Amino acid sequence: MMPKPLVLQTSKITKEFSGTKALDKVDFDLYEGEAHALVGANGAGKSTLINIISGLLHPESGRISINGIDVTDHLTSSNARKFGIATVPQYIKLAQELTVAENLASGHLPLQYGLVSWSKLNNWAKELLSSFGLDLSPDTLVKDLSVGQQKMISIARAFGEKANIIILDEPTAALSSAEIEMLFSFINAMKEKGTSFIYISHYLDEIFEICSRVTVLRDGKLIKTQPISEINIHQLTQLMIGKDVKLYPETTVEKGETLLEVNNLSDFQKIHDISFSIKQGEILGLAGLTGSGRTEIGKAIFGLNKLRTGSIKLEGKEVALNNPAEAIAAGVCYLPEERDEGLVLNRPIRENLTLPFLKSLIRGLGAINFKKETEITENLKTDFNIKTPDLDNDVDSLSGGNQQKVMFAKFVATKPKILILDEPTKGIDVGSKAEIYKIVKELCTQGTGFLIISSEIEELLSLCDRIIVMHNGNIKRIIPQEEATMQKILLAAEGV
Ligand SMILES: Nc1ncnc2c1ncn2[C@@H]1O[C@H](COP(=O)(O)OP(=O)(O)OP(=O)(O)O)[C@@H](O)[C@H]1O
Ligand SMILES: [Mg+2]
Repeated sequence: MMPKPLVLQTSKITKEFSGTKALDKVDFDLYEGEAHALVGANGAGKSTLINIISGLLHPESGRISINGIDVTDHLTSSNARKFGIATVPQYIKLAQELTVAENLASGHLPLQYGLVSWSKLNNWAKELLSSFGLDLSPDTLVKDLSVGQQKMISIARAFGEKANIIILDEPTAALSSAEIEMLFSFINAMKEKGTSFIYISHYLDEIFEICSRVTVLRDGKLIKTQPISEINIHQLTQLMIGKDVKLYPETTVEKGETLLEVNNLSDFQKIHDISFSIKQGEILGLAGLTGSGRTEIGKAIFGLNKLRTGSIKLEGKEVALNNPAEAIAAGVCYLPEERDEGLVLNRPIRENLTLPFLKSLIRGLGAINFKKETEITENLKTDFNIKTPDLDNDVDSLSGGNQQKVMFAKFVATKPKILILDEPTKGIDVGSKAEIYKIVKELCTQGTGFLIISSEIEELLSLCDRIIVMHNGNIKRIIPQEEATMQKILLAAEGV
């Protein structure tokens, strides 16, 4: 068999950001019709490399060639498209006020007699959506879609550009298992047709399912490129982190008094008649399909969504948590699924970390106690292993996974009684996941109670004392850890 041609090659790519060597002489290549995985811990340089390949960033040194032609000096984000490269970024950038069809065409609207042909656009979009298995009307406004649906649209858009190199940066982070299946069968069909993929994901089992080779980056350096058939998950983790990782802590925690009691909660959006309680040191899991009402429970308790019925008791006393400020003051925190809801992106990391408890840092006359601030924030940086040369840098400058850590750290710092975490390890590498689980368990031993919303059933099974399974806005089952299995959870989530 003839070897497949190389469609992309980078040699000795180096990129520095003030003080950080994000990439250090990195070689990477991609064959026609292959999916090549790019893995590494948070901050390893994955997004930086694909930002360079897609023309968003320019390397300080190194060369890039496409189909054997050196394009280093011509690669800009608008040219990348001409070279056949399409990217689905880690964070969705869709125009919320525009329709699905307009977003899919992304500024390349079909013209007829010099005018935009809306019927042409809608027909084209309808075809693209259905070839992708998406049952959505092209004239739906994007802001009315769920996060998962928006992600699917941004992926479909890349496919619609008829690119022959498609870069997917954490594509499945917000997707349901049905959507993931759809995406994978589409990728496989496209590979057959000769399209090549660069695939970034922290879900390593996905890489084994869909990719033929894997490249590992660590601290901006190329560690290894290898056929996927010659490596296992354990070896891959070790290459990424540089050491063995024990993902779940085995600590058993004594449960204390009941901390939170939720009775007959309903909201105006989704949830009906929700009742449960959480003890000191207890971890309660919240499973269910996207749209089953998991997030709404978190938001209702945190005072983000209004209650229609029901009551909330904290340490036996009924409380009214009308907004997040009241909830935080009462000792209840909620870590949202989306980073842009939880962080002020264009402000320093330091400020983001101290935001929820700024008041306690203010001394008479309104002056901030900078010594105390520095002490607290430096400790958080160490405890959560936040990768940055300087806490005064903006949160934007952090890699995706490190932004997630900042969000978690700032709430932990308020020493809450109850912490509600919505998809806490989305986009987080295995090493940092292990650190976060350890922190969760440590807080449990100090008496904190947790409600963990997660699509990763494995995570719930390993961490939680009990698991609530949601279906259509209702609690379908509450399963104690000793009885919980993957299958029981999946069935209950389907309403069986
Ligand atoms: N615009 C920027 N300004 C300063 N530093 C940056 C910038 N973009 C990236 N970096 C730094 O470069 C390094 C690599 O970041 P990158 O986003 O490529 O990591 P990643 O492998 O994609 O991580 P993740 O898995 O968390 O998404 C990190 O240390 C990051 O803080
Ligand atoms: Mg990234």
